[in-house]
Amino acid sequence: MIVLVTGGAGFIGSHTCIALLEAGFKVIVADNLCNSRVEILNKVMEITKKNIIFYEIDVTNEHSVDRIFSEHHIDGVIHFAGYKAVGESVKEPLKYYYNNIISTIVLVRACQKYKVQRFVFSSSATVYGENEVPFKESMILKPTTNPYGESKTISERILIDVSEANPAFSVALLRYFNPIGAHESGLIGEEPNGAPNNLMPYITQVAKGKIEKLRIFGADYPTFDGTGVRDYIHVMDLAEGHIAALIHLKEGIHKYNLGSGKGTSVLELVTIFEEETGIKIPFDVIDRRPGDIAECYADVRKAREELNWYVIRDLRMMCRDAWRFEKNI
Ligand code: WQD
Repeated sequence: MIVLVTGGAGFIGSHTCIALLEAGFKVIVADNLCNSRVEILNKVMEITKKNIIFYEIDVTNEHSVDRIFSEHHIDGVIHFAGYKAVGESVKEPLKYYYNNIISTIVLVRACQKYKVQRFVFSSSATVYGENEVPFKESMILKPTTNPYGESKTISERILIDVSEANPAFSVALLRYFNPIGAHESGLIGEEPNGAPNNLMPYITQVAKGKIEKLRIFGADYPTFDGTGVRDYIHVMDLAEGHIAALIHLKEGIHKYNLGSGKGTSVLELVTIFEEETGIKIPFDVIDRRPGDIAECYADVRKAREELNWYVIRDLRMMCRDAWRFEKNI
């Protein structure tokens, strides 16, 4: 089975390429390298001893995308390519709406033209908005707090409508919670451009001495220790969730939460990281970050029941693997 992975040089995309290759799939990557490096694909090939066909293209470009579909018999698409910085999306909404939505439309049109019937979409827990935790796939989505989240909601809507009009077009909407960690080799991992937005790369850069202190955004949330609670999932567990979705994909539209089902606070994660690495993480508590919610964690029953998928790596492994990678870069 040949799978086109857009954004395959990115953090989640590259880890998913490893899982795909190790599961025996053939992989084609389309990536414009705006938020990644081609060396990452070389590392994936080094780890798996398998080859990847790479196209350096922008997936909003219909001609570039059509060329890939005309040159290969593609059996399925996993669409990761997209901008994902919440704060940046507030400052540059058009950039986010155009890139994240047009890329989805261009890919779906190519799938229709070349009769590709399997489409796995990289969605996000952000689409739930301010719903009650644990988030369930059947929930009515509420407005998110940012254009990034809205671009994911709109892309989901497009895929739902196309699949309802063409039931043979099978779609999995995978709603990620908080992916962290790195492949056990330490050769690939999370490499934010510039100062990290997300918690774990911030922690590892403090541990490495690149940043002096962690700033904890608020300790006055209605959570057990006042700091934000999130559902952290090892990026390799998340990657393997995509294989499960591809293998089990049936006709129509299917939404799945990919999370651990467990909420962990900022302070808890910092403590676990310190215990696993023996490194103290100094921090200051500052004001809440605009747009943050108090708690976000998944109801994970559907993926377990329908995909026979659930997380197998725990928080301690996430911390160890993230730190091993940070030490190598
Ligand atoms: C986690 C917790 C922060 C940084 C985002 C996107 C989401 C998805 C994952 C793409 C929160 C706190 C963080 C820091 C902190 N991305 N924090 N100091 O915001 O839950 O999710 O990334 O799909 O769509 O919204 O992740 O890692 O930024 O924050 O205190 O320096 O850590 O307040 O409670 P988030 P995060």
